[in-house]
Amino acid sequence: MTEKDFILKDFDLTGLTSGSFSWESPSNIALVKYWGKSDPQIPKNPSISFTLNNCHTLTTLEYKKNEEPSDDYRFEVIFEGKKRGDFKPKIEKFLKRIESYVPFIRSYSFIIKTENSFPHSSGIASSASGMSALALCLMNMEKKLNPEITKEYFNRKASFLARLGSGSAARSIEGELVVWGEHREIPESSDLYGIKFPFKIHPDFRNYQDTILLVDKGQKQVSSTLGHNLMIDHPFAEQRFDQARKNISALTKILQEGNLKSFVKLVESEALTLHAMMMTSDPNFILMKPNTLKIIEKIREYRKQTGSDICFTLDAGANVHVLFPEREKESINTFINNELLAFCQKKQYICDHTDKGAKEVN
Ligand code: PMV
Repeated sequence: MTEKDFILKDFDLTGLTSGSFSWESPSNIALVKYWGKSDPQIPKNPSISFTLNNCHTLTTLEYKKNEEPSDDYRFEVIFEGKKRGDFKPKIEKFLKRIESYVPFIRSYSFIIKTENSFPHSSGIASSASGMSALALCLMNMEKKLNPEITKEYFNRKASFLARLGSGSAARSIEGELVVWGEHREIPESSDLYGIKFPFKIHPDFRNYQDTILLVDKGQKQVSSTLGHNLMIDHPFAEQRFDQARKNISALTKILQEGNLKSFVKLVESEALTLHAMMMTSDPNFILMKPNTLKIIEKIREYRKQTGSDICFTLDAGANVHVLFPEREKESINTFINNELLAFCQKKQYICDHTDKGAKEVN
Protein backbone atom coordinates (compact mmCIF):
# COMPACT_ATOMS: atom_id res chain seq x y z
CA MET A 1 0.00 0.00 0.00
CA THR A 2 1.15 3.54 -0.69
CA GLU A 3 0.29 6.91 0.86
CA LYS A 4 -2.37 7.44 -1.82
CA ASP A 5 -4.31 4.41 -0.58
CA PHE A 6 -4.87 6.20 2.72
CA ILE A 7 -6.54 9.32 1.32
CA LEU A 8 -10.24 9.38 2.13
CA LYS A 9 -12.22 10.54 -0.92
CA ASP A 10 -15.90 11.00 -1.78
CA PHE A 11 -17.39 11.18 1.67
CA ASP A 12 -20.65 12.65 2.87
CA LEU A 13 -20.79 14.19 6.33
CA THR A 14 -24.57 14.54 6.64
CA GLY A 15 -24.98 11.42 8.77
CA LEU A 16 -22.13 12.28 11.15
CA THR A 17 -23.14 15.22 13.31
CA SER A 18 -21.96 14.54 16.85
CA GLY A 19 -20.85 11.72 19.11
CA SER A 20 -17.80 10.23 20.73
CA PHE A 21 -15.42 7.29 20.47
CA SER A 22 -13.03 5.88 23.06
CA TRP A 23 -9.94 3.70 22.72
CA GLU A 24 -7.49 2.30 25.21
CA SER A 25 -4.18 2.05 23.43
CA PRO A 26 -1.00 0.47 24.77
CA SER A 27 2.60 1.49 24.99
CA ASN A 28 5.18 -0.76 23.32
CA ILE A 29 8.79 -1.68 23.94
CA ALA A 30 11.15 -2.09 21.01
CA LEU A 31 13.38 -5.17 20.86
CA VAL A 32 15.15 -3.99 17.70
CA LYS A 33 15.19 -0.22 18.02
CA TYR A 34 14.12 2.57 15.68
CA TRP A 35 16.64 5.41 15.88
CA GLY A 36 17.00 7.69 12.87
CA LYS A 37 14.31 8.84 10.46
CA SER A 38 13.66 10.88 7.35
CA ASP A 39 10.67 13.04 6.50
CA PRO A 40 7.74 12.34 7.05
CA GLN A 41 8.49 9.93 9.89
CA ILE A 42 10.07 7.28 7.66
CA PRO A 43 12.33 5.00 9.70
CA LYS A 44 15.93 4.49 8.64
CA ASN A 45 15.67 0.85 9.67
CA PRO A 46 12.89 -1.60 10.52
CA SER A 47 12.05 -2.20 14.19
CA ILE A 48 10.13 -4.81 16.12
CA SER A 49 8.38 -4.44 19.46
CA PHE A 50 6.36 -6.14 22.13
CA THR A 51 2.96 -4.54 22.63
CA LEU A 52 2.34 -3.92 26.33
CA ASN A 53 -0.88 -4.02 28.29
CA ASN A 54 -0.84 -2.19 31.63
CA CYS A 55 0.91 0.92 30.33
CA HIS A 56 -1.77 2.52 28.20
CA THR A 57 -3.61 5.72 27.33
CA LEU A 58 -7.39 6.00 27.41
CA THR A 59 -8.67 8.61 24.98
CA THR A 60 -12.21 9.77 24.27
CA LEU A 61 -12.73 11.89 21.20
CA GLU A 62 -15.92 13.94 21.27
CA TYR A 63 -16.85 15.45 17.92
CA LYS A 64 -19.46 17.96 16.81
CA LYS A 65 -20.00 19.13 13.27
CA ASN A 66 -19.32 22.82 12.61
CA GLU A 67 -21.86 25.00 10.79
CA GLU A 68 -19.13 25.68 8.22
CA PRO A 69 -15.76 23.98 7.71
CA SER A 70 -13.29 26.14 9.61
CA ASP A 71 -9.92 27.58 8.59
CA ASP A 72 -8.24 26.25 11.72
CA TYR A 73 -8.48 23.08 13.78
CA ARG A 74 -11.03 23.38 16.55
CA PHE A 75 -10.16 21.26 19.55
CA GLU A 76 -9.55 21.26 23.28
CA VAL A 77 -7.38 18.83 25.21
CA ILE A 78 -8.43 17.63 28.65
CA PHE A 79 -5.66 15.61 30.26
CA GLU A 80 -6.55 13.75 33.44
CA GLY A 81 -9.54 16.03 33.98
CA LYS A 82 -7.72 19.34 33.39
CA LYS A 83 -7.77 21.54 30.30
CA ARG A 84 -4.21 21.60 28.91
CA GLY A 85 -3.42 24.34 26.43
CA ASP A 86 0.24 23.30 26.53
CA PHE A 87 -0.65 19.97 24.85
CA LYS A 88 -2.22 21.73 21.87
CA PRO A 89 0.83 22.53 19.69
CA LYS A 90 1.81 18.84 19.42
CA ILE A 91 -1.74 17.79 18.51
CA GLU A 92 -2.06 20.68 16.09
CA LYS A 93 1.12 19.53 14.33
CA PHE A 94 -0.29 16.01 14.20
CA LEU A 95 -3.63 17.18 12.73
CA LYS A 96 -1.78 19.20 10.11
CA ARG A 97 0.24 16.14 9.10
CA ILE A 98 -2.77 13.84 8.81
CA GLU A 99 -5.29 16.27 7.32
CA SER A 100 -4.85 15.18 3.70
CA TYR A 101 -5.71 11.59 4.73
CA VAL A 102 -8.69 12.46 6.98
CA PRO A 103 -9.91 15.69 5.34
CA PHE A 104 -13.10 15.74 7.42
CA ILE A 105 -11.28 17.02 10.52
CA ARG A 106 -11.75 20.70 9.65
CA SER A 107 -15.51 20.20 9.60
CA TYR A 108 -15.67 19.24 13.30
CA SER A 109 -14.95 20.65 16.74
CA PHE A 110 -13.29 18.15 19.03
CA ILE A 111 -12.81 17.62 22.72
CA ILE A 112 -9.97 15.16 23.32
CA LYS A 113 -10.16 13.67 26.82
CA THR A 114 -7.15 11.61 27.64
CA GLU A 115 -5.48 9.89 30.60
CA ASN A 116 -2.53 7.56 31.12
CA SER A 117 -2.44 4.48 33.29
CA PHE A 118 1.10 5.41 34.33
CA PRO A 119 2.32 8.63 35.98
CA HIS A 120 2.90 11.41 33.44
CA SER A 121 6.42 12.21 34.56
CA SER A 122 7.53 8.61 34.99
CA GLY A 123 9.95 8.72 32.09
CA ILE A 124 7.63 6.37 30.19
CA ALA A 125 6.83 7.97 26.86
CA SER A 126 3.12 8.49 26.38
CA SER A 127 3.42 9.52 22.74
CA ALA A 128 3.04 5.98 21.34
CA SER A 129 -0.07 5.13 23.35
CA GLY A 130 -1.49 8.67 23.10
CA MET A 131 -1.07 9.12 19.36
CA SER A 132 -2.33 5.63 18.55
CA ALA A 133 -5.44 6.10 20.72
CA LEU A 134 -6.27 9.36 18.96
CA ALA A 135 -5.63 7.84 15.52
CA LEU A 136 -7.99 4.95 16.35
CA CYS A 137 -10.77 7.34 17.42
CA LEU A 138 -10.40 9.23 14.13
CA MET A 139 -10.57 5.93 12.26
CA ASN A 140 -13.93 5.25 13.93
CA MET A 141 -15.16 8.49 12.38
CA GLU A 142 -13.80 7.40 9.02
CA LYS A 143 -15.54 4.04 9.36
CA LYS A 144 -18.85 5.86 9.94
CA LEU A 145 -18.27 7.79 6.72
CA ASN A 146 -17.07 4.74 4.83
CA PRO A 147 -18.48 1.58 6.47
CA GLU A 148 -16.99 -0.66 3.80
CA ILE A 149 -13.42 -0.47 5.08
CA THR A 150 -12.02 -3.76 6.32
CA LYS A 151 -10.55 -4.41 9.77
CA GLU A 152 -7.14 -4.74 8.11
CA TYR A 153 -7.46 -1.35 6.39
CA PHE A 154 -8.75 0.19 9.63
CA ASN A 155 -5.71 -1.03 11.57
CA ARG A 156 -3.19 -0.19 8.86
CA LYS A 157 -4.50 3.32 8.44
CA ALA A 158 -4.68 3.82 12.22
CA SER A 159 -1.03 2.80 12.39
CA PHE A 160 -0.21 5.01 9.38
CA LEU A 161 -1.85 8.05 11.04
CA ALA A 162 -0.33 7.30 14.46
CA ARG A 163 3.12 7.10 12.85
CA LEU A 164 2.73 10.67 11.64
CA GLY A 165 2.25 11.73 15.28
CA SER A 166 5.10 9.68 16.74
CA GLY A 167 7.08 7.03 14.86
CA SER A 168 6.88 4.32 17.49
CA ALA A 169 3.10 4.89 17.80
CA ALA A 170 2.80 2.96 14.52
CA ARG A 171 3.59 -0.14 16.62
CA SER A 172 0.85 0.45 19.23
CA ILE A 173 -2.27 -0.70 17.36
CA GLU A 174 -1.93 -4.48 17.34
CA GLY A 175 -0.03 -7.13 19.30
CA GLU A 176 1.73 -9.08 20.61
CA LEU A 177 4.65 -8.42 18.30
CA VAL A 178 4.69 -5.69 15.69
CA VAL A 179 7.12 -4.96 12.86
CA TRP A 180 7.37 -1.46 11.46
CA GLY A 181 9.69 -0.70 8.56
CA GLU A 182 10.30 -2.53 5.33
CA HIS A 183 12.34 -5.71 5.54
CA ARG A 184 12.85 -8.07 2.64
CA GLU A 185 12.24 -11.20 4.71
CA ILE A 186 8.99 -9.95 6.23
CA PRO A 187 6.10 -10.02 3.79
CA GLU A 188 3.91 -6.88 3.73
CA SER A 189 6.26 -5.00 6.07
CA SER A 190 6.19 -1.28 5.35
CA ASP A 191 7.84 1.99 6.30
CA LEU A 192 4.37 3.54 6.37
CA TYR A 193 2.70 1.43 9.08
CA GLY A 194 3.24 -1.41 11.51
CA ILE A 195 2.03 -4.97 10.90
CA LYS A 196 1.53 -7.89 13.24
CA PHE A 197 4.55 -10.22 13.23
CA PRO A 198 3.44 -12.48 10.38
CA PHE A 199 5.00 -15.77 11.56
CA LYS A 200 4.10 -18.14 14.35
CA ILE A 201 5.41 -17.12 17.78
CA HIS A 202 7.04 -19.77 19.98
CA PRO A 203 4.97 -20.36 23.17
CA ASP A 204 7.93 -19.17 25.33
CA PHE A 205 7.41 -15.67 23.91
CA ARG A 206 3.68 -15.57 24.69
CA ASN A 207 2.65 -13.34 27.60
CA TYR A 208 6.25 -12.18 27.97
CA GLN A 209 6.81 -10.17 31.13
CA ASP A 210 8.16 -6.62 31.22
CA THR A 211 8.78 -5.03 34.62
CA ILE A 212 9.69 -1.39 34.17
CA LEU A 213 12.04 -0.07 36.83
CA LEU A 214 11.66 3.69 37.25
CA VAL A 215 15.22 4.82 37.79
CA ASP A 216 14.78 8.43 36.77
CA LYS A 217 11.36 9.98 36.51
CA GLY A 218 12.57 13.34 35.25
CA GLN A 219 11.71 15.03 31.98
CA LYS A 220 13.37 13.60 28.88
CA GLN A 221 16.89 14.98 28.47
CA VAL A 222 16.76 14.60 24.67
CA SER A 223 13.53 15.01 22.71
CA SER A 224 12.74 12.28 20.19
CA THR A 225 13.10 14.60 17.23
CA LEU A 226 16.47 15.86 18.40
CA GLY A 227 17.56 12.28 19.11
CA HIS A 228 16.60 10.93 15.69
CA ASN A 229 18.31 13.88 14.04
CA LEU A 230 21.57 12.94 15.75
CA MET A 231 21.71 10.00 13.33
CA ILE A 232 22.07 12.40 10.38
CA ASP A 233 25.81 12.48 9.62
CA HIS A 234 26.49 10.14 12.56
CA PRO A 235 29.83 8.38 11.87
CA PHE A 236 28.31 4.93 12.55
CA ALA A 237 24.84 5.51 11.06
CA GLU A 238 25.07 3.21 8.03
CA GLN A 239 26.61 0.36 10.05
CA ARG A 240 23.88 0.77 12.65
CA PHE A 241 21.03 0.66 10.11
CA ASP A 242 22.61 -2.40 8.52
CA GLN A 243 23.02 -4.07 11.93
CA ALA A 244 19.34 -3.43 12.75
CA ARG A 245 18.24 -5.09 9.49
CA LYS A 246 20.41 -8.12 10.30
CA ASN A 247 19.04 -8.21 13.85
CA ILE A 248 15.49 -8.26 12.48
CA SER A 249 16.41 -11.34 10.39
CA ALA A 250 17.95 -13.03 13.41
CA LEU A 251 15.12 -12.12 15.78
CA THR A 252 12.49 -13.33 13.31
CA LYS A 253 14.03 -16.80 13.58
CA ILE A 254 14.55 -16.61 17.35
CA LEU A 255 10.91 -15.70 17.98
CA GLN A 256 9.70 -18.67 15.96
CA GLU A 257 12.15 -21.18 17.38
CA GLY A 258 12.03 -20.04 21.01
CA ASN A 259 15.76 -19.56 21.32
CA LEU A 260 15.83 -17.60 24.57
CA LYS A 261 19.61 -17.45 24.97
CA SER A 262 19.98 -15.79 21.57
CA PHE A 263 17.04 -13.50 22.40
CA VAL A 264 18.78 -12.25 25.56
CA LYS A 265 22.00 -11.55 23.68
CA LEU A 266 20.35 -9.73 20.80
CA VAL A 267 17.94 -7.64 22.90
CA GLU A 268 20.63 -6.41 25.31
CA SER A 269 22.94 -5.60 22.41
CA GLU A 270 20.17 -3.54 20.77
CA ALA A 271 19.58 -1.56 23.99
CA LEU A 272 23.26 -0.82 24.45
CA THR A 273 23.68 0.06 20.77
CA LEU A 274 20.89 2.64 21.04
CA HIS A 275 22.75 4.27 23.93
CA ALA A 276 26.11 3.89 22.18
CA MET A 277 24.69 5.85 19.24
CA MET A 278 23.76 8.66 21.63
CA MET A 279 27.14 8.57 23.34
CA THR A 280 28.94 8.88 20.01
CA SER A 281 26.82 11.55 18.32
CA ASP A 282 27.52 15.25 18.15
CA PRO A 283 26.37 16.55 20.59
CA ASN A 284 26.58 13.39 22.70
CA PHE A 285 24.37 12.29 25.57
CA ILE A 286 24.64 9.86 28.44
CA LEU A 287 21.08 8.94 29.30
CA MET A 288 21.85 6.05 31.63
CA LYS A 289 22.24 6.86 35.32
CA PRO A 290 24.55 5.09 37.79
CA ASN A 291 21.55 3.07 39.00
CA THR A 292 20.79 1.96 35.43
CA LEU A 293 24.24 0.37 35.32
CA LYS A 294 23.86 -1.13 38.78
CA ILE A 295 20.62 -2.81 37.69
CA ILE A 296 22.25 -4.11 34.49
CA GLU A 297 25.12 -5.59 36.51
CA LYS A 298 22.70 -7.25 38.93
CA ILE A 299 20.65 -8.74 36.10
CA ARG A 300 23.77 -10.20 34.50
CA GLU A 301 24.98 -11.58 37.81
CA TYR A 302 21.59 -13.19 38.48
CA ARG A 303 21.60 -14.75 35.02
CA LYS A 304 25.05 -16.18 35.54
CA GLN A 305 24.16 -17.63 38.92
CA THR A 306 20.77 -19.10 38.07
CA GLY A 307 20.81 -19.78 34.33
CA SER A 308 17.68 -17.60 34.06
CA ASP A 309 16.56 -16.09 30.74
CA ILE A 310 16.08 -12.65 32.27
CA CYS A 311 17.36 -9.70 30.22
CA PHE A 312 17.03 -5.92 30.03
CA THR A 313 16.22 -3.36 27.43
CA LEU A 314 16.25 0.43 27.51
CA ASP A 315 14.41 3.28 25.84
CA ALA A 316 16.01 6.65 25.26
CA GLY A 317 16.26 7.21 29.02
CA ALA A 318 17.48 5.77 32.32
CA ASN A 319 14.58 3.42 33.14
CA VAL A 320 15.18 -0.30 32.74
CA HIS A 321 12.71 -2.75 31.17
CA VAL A 322 13.30 -6.18 32.71
CA LEU A 323 12.12 -8.86 30.27
CA PHE A 324 11.50 -12.52 31.14
CA PRO A 325 9.32 -15.51 30.23
CA GLU A 326 6.10 -16.01 32.20
CA ARG A 327 7.30 -19.23 33.80
CA GLU A 328 10.02 -17.32 35.67
CA LYS A 329 7.58 -14.76 37.05
CA GLU A 330 7.69 -15.83 40.68
CA SER A 331 11.43 -16.20 41.08
CA ILE A 332 12.22 -13.02 39.15
CA ASN A 333 9.66 -10.98 41.06
CA THR A 334 11.40 -12.03 44.26
CA PHE A 335 14.77 -11.07 42.77
CA ILE A 336 13.42 -7.68 41.65
CA ASN A 337 11.92 -6.99 45.06
CA ASN A 338 14.99 -8.03 46.99
CA GLU A 339 17.75 -6.71 44.76
CA LEU A 340 16.61 -4.18 42.18
CA LEU A 341 13.98 -1.93 43.75
CA ALA A 342 16.63 -0.26 45.88
CA PHE A 343 17.93 1.37 42.67
CA CYS A 344 14.54 2.80 41.63
CA GLN A 345 13.29 6.27 42.47
CA LYS A 346 11.07 5.83 45.52
CA LYS A 347 11.19 2.07 44.78
CA GLN A 348 8.72 2.61 41.94
CA TYR A 349 8.15 0.07 39.19
CA ILE A 350 5.39 -1.12 36.86
CA CYS A 351 4.63 -4.77 36.12
CA ASP A 352 3.55 -5.27 32.55
CA HIS A 353 3.31 -8.03 29.95
CA THR A 354 2.65 -8.42 26.25
CA ASP A 355 -0.87 -8.29 24.90
CA LYS A 356 -2.95 -8.12 21.75
CA GLY A 357 -3.14 -4.37 21.23
CA ALA A 358 -5.59 -1.49 21.47
CA LYS A 359 -9.16 -2.00 22.69
CA GLU A 360 -12.23 0.02 21.85
CA VAL A 361 -14.08 1.14 24.98
CA ASN A 362 -17.83 1.63 24.94
O1 PMV B 1 8.52 7.36 18.47
P1 PMV B 1 9.67 8.22 18.82
O2 PMV B 1 9.96 9.23 17.76
O3 PMV B 1 9.50 8.84 20.18
O4 PMV B 1 10.99 7.32 18.88
C1 PMV B 1 11.17 6.30 19.80
C2 PMV B 1 12.52 5.73 19.74
C3 PMV B 1 12.88 4.68 20.78
O5 PMV B 1 11.88 4.57 21.77
C4 PMV B 1 14.16 5.09 21.47
C5 PMV B 1 13.11 3.32 20.14
C6 PMV B 1 11.90 2.60 19.63
O6 PMV B 1 12.02 1.92 18.62
O7 PMV B 1 10.82 2.68 20.27
